[in-house]
Amino acid sequence: MIVRYAIDAVVELSVIASFTRIGPAIRRRLFAWDAAEPGSLKGRTALVTGPTSGLGRAVVDDLARLGARVVLVARSADRLARVRDELIAAHGGDRFPIVVADMGSLTSVRAAVAEVLATETRLDIVVDNAGAIFPERTVGPDGIEATLAVLVVGPFALIGGLLPLLRTTPAARVIAMTSGGQYTQALDLDDLQTAAASYAGALAYARAKRAQVCLVREWARRLAADDVTFCAMHPGWADTPGLADTLPGFYNVMRRLLRTPSEGAATASWLAATADVGRFNGKLVLDRRARPFDRVPWTVVSPADRRHLWDQVVGLSGMPDPLPSA
Ligand SMILES: NC(=O)c1ccc[n+]([C@@H]2O[C@H](COP(=O)([O-])OP(=O)(O)OC[C@H]3O[C@@H](n4cnc5c(N)ncnc54)[C@H](OP(=O)(O)O)[C@@H]3O)[C@@H](O)[C@H]2O)c1
Repeated sequence: MIVRYAIDAVVELSVIASFTRIGPAIRRRLFAWDAAEPGSLKGRTALVTGPTSGLGRAVVDDLARLGARVVLVARSADRLARVRDELIAAHGGDRFPIVVADMGSLTSVRAAVAEVLATETRLDIVVDNAGAIFPERTVGPDGIEATLAVLVVGPFALIGGLLPLLRTTPAARVIAMTSGGQYTQALDLDDLQTAAASYAGALAYARAKRAQVCLVREWARRLAADDVTFCAMHPGWADTPGLADTLPGFYNVMRRLLRTPSEGAATASWLAATADVGRFNGKLVLDRRARPFDRVPWTVVSPADRRHLWDQVVGLSGMPDPLPSA
């Protein structure tokens, strides 16, 4: 076993092996990954943001195959209806409700929360997956820079609003789809919205993903006594429309080595289904193992700065603090 962990650690150190399809190919054999039983999520309810493309589409397919009811959340009613129909055709059952919501608009997120609270009686799994890179700096309808709004503030308001349902559902879990890009940026609490002077799409994206992971750790800390697990996972690099459209140069160079959407999404699907999810509370996971939060010392975020981030995001979300700090 020690040898297997040593090999896995070497793979993890080499970013390219870990993030590409080489990673799961090696780790699947090393650790003899098992597959969840079809039907093992029967009776459970999941909510997935961004299920109309790429990784989110792969996650909802996995969850549907395992028997879950899956609430589909994205911006376009037409695209959502297409996914719902595909899921019914592939997996059967009218168990894929649609909620139209833009994660970059707090009004829209609040309406989505109200809709879910009115229609669902339990919420076992949330996959916070929706995301985008904005090449130009854009400010959304709430006056918040768009990357931060879509990746951080909107999901925070969504999860905060759904918290009562999560807390009353046994072994509930929130899984945040972060990015290896978060390893490249420190948290800048004085420039959370990446001011125009320093703005670049990939920079704002990496910062927002780091903030997202910091918040996962803070949710986990504040809910330590509850039966709700908060974890982050990253998909490595996966062949999705999102990656091809926003980073075409990188996509063309790496194309042959990219994970399939299903391989990229596999960590999220596995966390959604595993009984033992509690051991990943507040952790960052890739390929079924907790991974470091940082790869270089200057990105380490102190507990105090994570608390300050929480307070800033509460302020931006316009909602009362869902979990005032003890
Ligand atoms: N692909 C990779 O290699 C990679 C690597 C690291 C992290 N990620 C992360 O994985 C997640 C999924 O990425 P992907 O590559 O699968 O991208 P994708 O193919 O572009 O899919 C993005 C999904 O997010 C939804 N979405 C985008 N903006 C939204 C908004 N404002 N409100 C609600 N939904 C929104 C889209 O739905 P509609 O357009 O229909 O609303 C779509 O379903 C993202 O968080 C991304 O940062 C991906």
